[in-house]
This record gives sequence, C-alpha cells and structure tokens, in this order.
Amino acid sequence: MLKTVKNSVKNDSNFIDVEKVRRDFPLLQNHYNGRPIAFLDNAATTQKPQVVLDKLNEFYTQYNANVHRAIYHIGEQATREYEDARKKVSDFINAPDPSTIIFTRGATEAINLVAYSWGRHNLSPGDEILITEMEHHSNIIPWQLAVKDTGATLRYIPLHLPVDGTLDLQSLEVNLTNRTKLVAIVHQSNVFGTINPVKKIIKAAQSVGALVLLDSAQSVPHSKVDVQALDCDFLVFSGHKMMGPSGVGVLYAKETLLNSMEPFMGGGEMISTVSMEYSTWNDIPWKFEAGTPNIAQAIGLGAAVDYLNELNMESIHAHENELMDYASDMLKNTPRVILYGNGSKRGAIISFNVEGIHPHDLAQILDQDGIAVRAGHHCAQPIMKRLNVPATTRASFYVYNTKDEIDRLCEGIEKAINLLC
Ligand SMILES: Cc1ncc(COP(=O)(O)O)c(C=O)c1O
Repeated sequence: MLKTVKNSVKNDSNFIDVEKVRRDFPLLQNHYNGRPIAFLDNAATTQKPQVVLDKLNEFYTQYNANVHRAIYHIGEQATREYEDARKKVSDFINAPDPSTIIFTRGATEAINLVAYSWGRHNLSPGDEILITEMEHHSNIIPWQLAVKDTGATLRYIPLHLPVDGTLDLQSLEVNLTNRTKLVAIVHQSNVFGTINPVKKIIKAAQSVGALVLLDSAQSVPHSKVDVQALDCDFLVFSGHKMMGPSGVGVLYAKETLLNSMEPFMGGGEMISTVSMEYSTWNDIPWKFEAGTPNIAQAIGLGAAVDYLNELNMESIHAHENELMDYASDMLKNTPRVILYGNGSKRGAIISFNVEGIHPHDLAQILDQDGIAVRAGHHCAQPIMKRLNVPATTRASFYVYNTKDEIDRLCEGIEKAINLLC
C-alpha cells in the first residue's frame, strides 16, 4: 500500500508539463516561414528561460559592480550573488565545497586550465594520458599541446568496430598502466549520445594511480551528476548548454589537487601578495580566476541551476528518454535514414545521415520549415573518420522539446528525399 502511494508520488513528480515549460522560453515563441521554431540543436547550445534573462537584466540594472573589491553596497551585492551562484553550482553536482568550483569561460577553457596548471607541471617523458576516439576536439587538442610541451604520450581508447558508438573497454585494460597519469574522457558523447560507464573507468584508473577528468558538457545539463559518488578528480561543463548564458563554464576539481596546482593565468584577484620580485597566490577558487570574471554570466548560471532544480533533473531525464525512444523509432522507420550509435545507455542525442543527401543540404531544407538541427563533424573529426563520413546530421533534445517536433523532423526528411533523391 505504502509502496503504491510512493510510486504514484514519484510518477507525479516526474511529470513535465512541456507546454508550460515552453512558455518560459521567449525564443521558442518565434516563428520562421510561418512555422514555430523547433530547436533540435541542444547539444550545441540551449535556449534561455525568462528567469535567466531577468537575472542578467537584474544584475546590470541593480547591482552592476566588480566583485571582491568594492566596499559600497552594490559591489557587496554583486559579490554575494556571484558567490551564491558558485554555491548553487557546487550543490548541483554535489561538490564537497564551493571552493572546488572554478568559474571558467566554458568546458573548453576548463580542460585547458587542467592541461596547463596540472599537465605542464606533472607530466614528463614516459608518462601517458589516455583519452578516447569519442572525444570532442576540446578534450583532444589541449592534451596534444600538453604532450608536445612535456614529452608525455597521448593514447586513445578506440571505438568498437564496426562503430556502434561505444568504447572498446577491453582496450582500456590494455592501455591503462602505471605510466598512465590521467584518463580524460567524455561522460556523454556529443555525437552518439552514448553515456560512458565512467564509474567503472574511474575505478580502473584509480587502480593504477591515474587521475580522471570527466568532460561532462553533455551530461550535467541532462541528468543528476554527483562528483563525490563518481569520485572523479576533475569534471568540466559549460553554462550555455544548461540554459545559462554563454561565456561561463565550470571546472570542479578535488581540493588537494587545486591547492597543489599552479595558477592558470596571472593578474588581479588571483594573488595574495605582489612584490617586485615575486608573488603569492590567493586561496582556491580565486587562485584560478584571474582578472574580472564573467560576473553576470555566473549569476545567470545560478538562475539556470535554480530553474533546472525546480523542474527536477530526474523529470528532465525521464522526459528526454521518452523523446529519444520516440525519435529512434520514428527515424528507424523513415526511408533512407542511417542511424549512428546504438549503445544501451544513451542521452537525448541522435546522429544520422540520409542516403543520397548531404547533411548540409538536409539541414537547409529543414531550416525552411523552422527546424534547427546541426550538420557537420560536431567537433569530433576522429569519429567521422571512424564512421567514414565527412559529416552527420544531429538532432538533440532538451526538456522543452515535444514529440510533435520529432514528427516535423521526420516529415522534413521525407520532404528532402522527395526534393533531392
Ligand atoms: C562533449 C563536449 N565537450 C566539450 C564541449 C565544449 O564546450 P564549450 O564550447 O562550451 O567550451 C562540447 C561542446 O559542444 C561538447 O559537446
């Protein structure tokens, strides 16, 4: 009896009233060529709810001042709001303390920060960094640059062949040795949607004493991520992919690592004392936030976190799973569509091609009907090489998307086939 009541409460709390949610997003009220905009490019960036836009406006109209330095009241309010945003982000990913949250420009900058502040000081010839063939360029290039500077070696965990969008984990075991100093891995692929078994990978890495960096740019916006439960050493994500403003992202790192790492950039705020000869560093997190930070953007991200919490991450995830199941079924039954990736655990990202149609042509035809999808290599050229295609079309969903929009996507594909094939 009790169990039934509990389940029914859970079901209720899992319910997302999409039409109500959509009304919170001004951009989604727009039309193009007489059709409502179907924004299906959420892996690239996401739309912003009115509460986030209002928060940005509130900052600029009511307490626009620099942080951590002003004695006057609006400066103190700006500082309070900025640090409150850090606390909200910290709680959102269950970090042990807000001081372990560094605001960056985005996931890319956060990975570069680790590659410089940790990588340049801890890697030497003979050391290895292990990444995967599934990475976004932002988790490849910083490591290519780091090994060039340090003489370390970069190794890759391959994709299963034939490519099904999952990693060959047997190869992880072979490649993971006591030479491995860092495993840097995407949590959820931005091409296949595959959710990698990161907990298992972290355990394996720890057994050889390697650190783990998770690129969670595609996972934190869509499901509950708990850094303490995962026990990862570094985790990065971007505000703009989770309804926040562009220009703000996050690096989470374990406190001991942050304390032992050298600063990333030098300038105001990151110092404790400065003399003509040498300087000493501020405490974390400010040691890594040189210069005036992206104050409004961080505060806006705090508002996005509040909004996501209000919707409930489990409900968001459940809604997206439903969309994903529907889209997979619909696309499987659409003629000429080739789907990429069929891992058993996937987020709401689906990549495909249509036989005989270049992805760019398809995206243009869909755009005429107000449907926004991404066509290209998705900043993941090694994956395109493995798939032996120059590009794919990608539809990616968020909590405000509907099955109707997926129907429109499939109708648009059929229209393109009739026009071009
Ligand atoms: C998996 C993944 N990692 C990193 C990034 C980089 O994010 P940003 O460009 O916001 O720094 C992206 C962006 O698409 C991504 O999908």
